[in-house]
Amino acid sequence: MMRTLLLLSTVAILSAWAVKCKYDGQDLDNNQIIVVQNAFRIKCLTEDNGSWKTEIIGCVTPDGTEIDAGQKKEHGDKIHECVKSESGQVSLKESKGRMAACPGGQQNGEEWQEKSFKFRCGDGGVVKFIACVGQDGSVINAGETGKIGGFDVKCEQHANGTITMQAANDPKSYECKAKDGSMKKNGQEYVEGNFVRKCGDYGQGKIIGCFADNVGSTIGVNQNVTHGDVIYSCAKDGANYSFKTYSLKAN
Ligand SMILES: *[C@@H]1O[C@H](CO)[C@@H](O)[C@H](O)[C@H]1NC(C)=O
Ligand SMILES: *[C@@H]1O[C@H](CO)[C@@H](O)[C@H](O)[C@H]1NC(C)=O
Ligand SMILES: *[C@@H]1O[C@H](CO)[C@@H](O)[C@H](O)[C@H]1NC(C)=O
Ligand SMILES: *[C@@H]1O[C@H](CO)[C@@H](O)[C@H](O)[C@H]1NC(C)=O
Repeated sequence: MMRTLLLLSTVAILSAWAVKCKYDGQDLDNNQIIVVQNAFRIKCLTEDNGSWKTEIIGCVTPDGTEIDAGQKKEHGDKIHECVKSESGQVSLKESKGRMAACPGGQQNGEEWQEKSFKFRCGDGGVVKFIACVGQDGSVINAGETGKIGGFDVKCEQHANGTITMQAANDPKSYECKAKDGSMKKNGQEYVEGNFVRKCGDYGQGKIIGCFADNVGSTIGVNQNVTHGDVIYSCAKDGANYSFKTYSLKAN
């Protein structure tokens, strides 16, 4: 009888001293939930046999929104995800929402141009490179080759993030077309009227001097050559070249 009583009273004492969880120096009642580190929700679970455990059941976003472990919530332009790993670790992940603005302030879907490059503000506030724009306004989509001013130009984004718009072919591979319709190779010199040109990169014939039938060699730019009683003058003024002859004979 005594033993039974004693046993009864022991049970009574046990239930009065209800099992509590301990977390970081705090005593928690069964099913009590606390928020720790301003980010995680912890729940106390006790057993009548005296064992207890605390379990992370979810996350709390900085603005106070509660998210269950394994769930995500989009709020404003942010997405919060409460991730629970297989090992039981829980972390709160923040990422930009689909409609988030881009770092430059552009809105989702907005397109803009910087120098010769076109961008779009993609989902999650990610800047997407979409195309190159030539000086003549022609557009070449990213990753493609197109023609600008008759040249094959490649528009690309490299693995290191650099974006380029450059000649698809070797600049020296282009031939120059002389006024008479003939084609000249890179580096080749040729006469066109009173001027001597040299075929340069991208098929651009550059004036390197002047030509006169009576003068055997090329007359250099800003050079005068006297032949007989005539001065042959080859001059450059700004972007203009001129060829003139002056007679030394007194009229
Ligand atoms: C107490 O009960 C729980 C659930 O029934 C069990 O998992 C645990 O091992 C028990 N603990 C002890 C100390 O008996
Ligand atoms: C990026 O990659 C391109 C192509 O491989 C290269 O030409 C360029 O120099 C690189 N730029 C930087 C900053 O590494
Ligand atoms: C070439 O001759 C013309 C005519 O005499 C003169 O005006 C010009 O300054 C000369 N140019 C050079 C580079 O000597
Ligand atoms: C060059 O030629 C153009 C057209 O003939 C003319 O308008 C311009 O003023 C010239 N420039 C110079 C520096 O002479």
